[in-house]
Amino acid sequence: MSATNTSSSVNTAPGRLVVLYGGQSGEREVSLKGGEAVLAALQASGRDAHGLDLGPGWMAELEALQADHVFIVLHGAGGEDGTVQGALECMGLPYTGSGVLASALAMDKLRCKQLWQGIGLPTAGFALLHKDSNWTELLAELGGEVMVKPASEGSSLGMAKASSGDELQAAWAAADAFDSVVIAERWLNGAEYTVAILNGRPLPVIKLETDRPFYDYEAKYLADDTRYICPCGLSTEDETAMQALALEAFTSLGCEGWGRVDVMMTADGEPHLLEVNTVPGMTDHSLVPMAAAAAGLSFTDLLIEILKTALNKSEKNTPSKVAGGAA
Ligand SMILES: Nc1ncnc2c1ncn2[C@@H]1O[C@H](COP(=O)(O)OP(=O)(O)O)[C@@H](O)[C@H]1O
Ligand SMILES: [Mg+2]
Repeated sequence: MSATNTSSSVNTAPGRLVVLYGGQSGEREVSLKGGEAVLAALQASGRDAHGLDLGPGWMAELEALQADHVFIVLHGAGGEDGTVQGALECMGLPYTGSGVLASALAMDKLRCKQLWQGIGLPTAGFALLHKDSNWTELLAELGGEVMVKPASEGSSLGMAKASSGDELQAAWAAADAFDSVVIAERWLNGAEYTVAILNGRPLPVIKLETDRPFYDYEAKYLADDTRYICPCGLSTEDETAMQALALEAFTSLGCEGWGRVDVMMTADGEPHLLEVNTVPGMTDHSLVPMAAAAAGLSFTDLLIEILKTALNKSEKNTPSKVAGGAA
């Protein structure tokens, strides 16, 4: 394994790439699909790319593959949450996307919202739920209608709408099966959007529409009537403002390289931040590839842009950059 390429050689010859995918989270299937699409496109573009399904013993397997760079297509716990990123840091292997802290923060919807509130970015009011919560009182405080979410899941897993005390308690119990930290968020009635970020630049905004009560697992991956609208229909001014908000939300967590920020409007048209995905879906019909296409980038162009984060990390590790820096 080597992380010692010079910047000119990595830019022209990225060396051996390993795509990490699969894993053991609830989003394994989505990751397998995305990882296969990424691997196929990298191989078709002539790169020395290999796939590795993350199971027990993955670090030894990765070592044996003699990777120069790692392309992470893992979603959820044990892949998108900073743990794999930390292991790769220890192995000295440059990887795509956000680092340890930003990955962990973005994975935690509770702390993410606390941070945004702290710096004055708009996000729906919320409360932490626990087994002794006063369900009726809490619901009334949050406007009578809420979305209940496990703090550290993705793909809408474990989420449900509640509009009575009994529903809230049942939704908490269902979410608690996914994560012991569960939040209830004020229900947002407006339209839903998502903003991809690529190397410091927000891509065109996509509007999402579903006839289901919300953009749930079915609407995301199974239904064929979910609508993805790009150009999104906002005025240029509103789209630019939403892109700026998304970029600020992304950088406030320390995220790097690429990601996707989910946004919903309140009933009176104010954008509110839902969450940041540091490793968004990457099948060739996923949202980031869709936004990239709207910006004139093919799936392969997008992968090359994403790889720049790993290349930048390896540049930081070159002897010339670290010389004299050690304590
Ligand atoms: N406060 C809310 N009000 C209404 N719908 C919501 C709210 N929060 C989330 N949703 C719906 O649930 C979906 C998933 O929520 P999100 O916070 O993005 O979690 P995930 O990590 O599962 O994608 C959103 O895309 C949206 O359709
Ligand atoms: Mg989301």
